[in-house]
Amino acid sequence: MNIKNQTILVTGANGGIGKALVNAFLAAGAAKIYACARDITSLDVLPVDGRISLLKLDICNTASIEKAAVAARDLTLLVNNAGTGGAGLLGSQQIARREMEVNYFGTHAMCTTFAPILGKNGGGCIVNIISVIGLVNMPSIGTYCASKAALHSLTQGMRGALSGQKTAVVGVYPGPVDTRMTDGLAMAKASPESVAEEILTGLTAGLEEIYPDSFAQKIHEGLLATPREVEREMARY
Ligand SMILES: NC(=O)c1ccc[n+]([C@@H]2O[C@H](COP(=O)([O-])OP(=O)(O)OC[C@H]3O[C@@H](n4cnc5c(N)ncnc54)[C@H](OP(=O)(O)O)[C@@H]3O)[C@@H](O)[C@H]2O)c1
Repeated sequence: MNIKNQTILVTGANGGIGKALVNAFLAAGAAKIYACARDITSLDVLPVDGRISLLKLDICNTASIEKAAVAARDLTLLVNNAGTGGAGLLGSQQIARREMEVNYFGTHAMCTTFAPILGKNGGGCIVNIISVIGLVNMPSIGTYCASKAALHSLTQGMRGALSGQKTAVVGVYPGPVDTRMTDGLAMAKASPESVAEEILTGLTAGLEEIYPDSFAQKIHEGLLATPREVEREMARY
């Protein structure tokens, strides 16, 4: 895919990876970006650029999604970046439900609402920001992993279901990234800027799965070679 001339929507554009993606898309020559957030005033972290349109969007609210779909009828690239985490595996079920609500159902609603628009505009592309721990469970944040595993499965299904309308569906599987979501996590973290750059490189190369940092690449390779060993290793975090 050529990023130049794409009309892109990024959910959670006020967050760490979302903001870095908007900046990377601008630098790569995107034609137009719908930068979305639940609280539109939080988008003041983005640069002033005539190609950015700010949209209020809560991916767990049907009316909000439908409003965004009316505004972004010219969309060619949907980036489902919004996500949430917080529960330990044996923690609050309320938080676990919230993770599923945002990471799985919210992203599902975005895909189903925008797929016909992308189809009308020639096919385009959906990018889902998943996580490498959607491929193997890290028990300390096990319910988050389960919600991302559901999103991984959804991404595979969407790829098959939308191939007929020529919509590419890409899964992104980062390891730990230095954003608000990982505040207090004592692990080496990639910068959101380097992750965004790797995502753009992967999109330009036409990859269907993108592992944008060294932690993610190592886990992915381990899962192909010795999956049980990786599972045991993740239980140590
Ligand atoms: N950081 C990591 O280590 C890491 C690793 C792998 C994958 N990821 C994934 O990367 C994505 C971006 O996360 P991040 O690391 O950049 O964290 P972040 O800075 O906390 O950003 C999360 C974003 O999601 C938004 N969001 C949450 N619920 C939403 C909803 N219902 N509707 C619309 N937006 C909503 C947040 O908006 P508010 O400001 O309104 O809450 C925020 O903009 C997430 O999907 C996350 O799971 C992160």
